[in-house]
Amino acid sequence: MLIDTHAHINDERLLPRAAEIHESMPEKGIESLIVVGYERPSSESAVELSLKYPRFYAAVGIHPHDSKTASIEDYDRFKELSELPKTVAIGEIGLDYYYDLSDRDVQKRVFHEQIELAHSLKKPMIFHIRDAYGDALQILKEHRGDLEYGGVMHCYGGSTEMMREFVKLGLHIAFGGAVTFKNFGKAEVVKAVPADRLLLETDCPYMTPVPFRGKDNIPEYIAFVRDKIQEWRTDISVEEVTSENARTLFKL
Ligand code: NI
Repeated sequence: MLIDTHAHINDERLLPRAAEIHESMPEKGIESLIVVGYERPSSESAVELSLKYPRFYAAVGIHPHDSKTASIEDYDRFKELSELPKTVAIGEIGLDYYYDLSDRDVQKRVFHEQIELAHSLKKPMIFHIRDAYGDALQILKEHRGDLEYGGVMHCYGGSTEMMREFVKLGLHIAFGGAVTFKNFGKAEVVKAVPADRLLLETDCPYMTPVPFRGKDNIPEYIAFVRDKIQEWRTDISVEEVTSENARTLFKL
């Protein structure tokens, strides 16, 4: 059975389909998924979904795009939400210099704050890093001591060398629908990830894999991600290994 470690069922496009998605998971071969928040309301929605549906878990956090909205009240709320039994991670948090929707200094400050928050709550983290791997690595190295509960580089798009640096820090590396794109160009990175650090995700409703590009992504399309990675990773059963990794990291 597969585990989707990054699914935005809390997105307005998927929320009306939550019950149907949950219901169909066993027949689609999906054991569980993590609904990931990106600011306070979406984090509350993720937790609500996780409490309503047995196969859903939740992550709470502020996305780099929304860093400019972060407040102490948000962090206090995340503390409360993280005490609930299905809240398994702090995320998605990080740096996004591609869109730059929040000032970079603000992104960095909020990233620091949430890394410390995750450590104090004894939770792993889900990192969204885009066009900012250098700064992210520097910040994560500064926070080496705060990474003891682990974390995952979601939708990894960096180099093999950079991947090895994140692995050295104890982190996991997740891939989604982008692996099916013709221009993905990073099969070598996927091949180089240590088996015990590899994770699968959809990032639904975004990152829809081939052959459904142009439609909203949904958790069952994770099968296309598994199949593509399996072509490159003949050394392991991608499904078995990634699901075991997800259970271990997120204590599912
Ligand atoms: Ni996401």
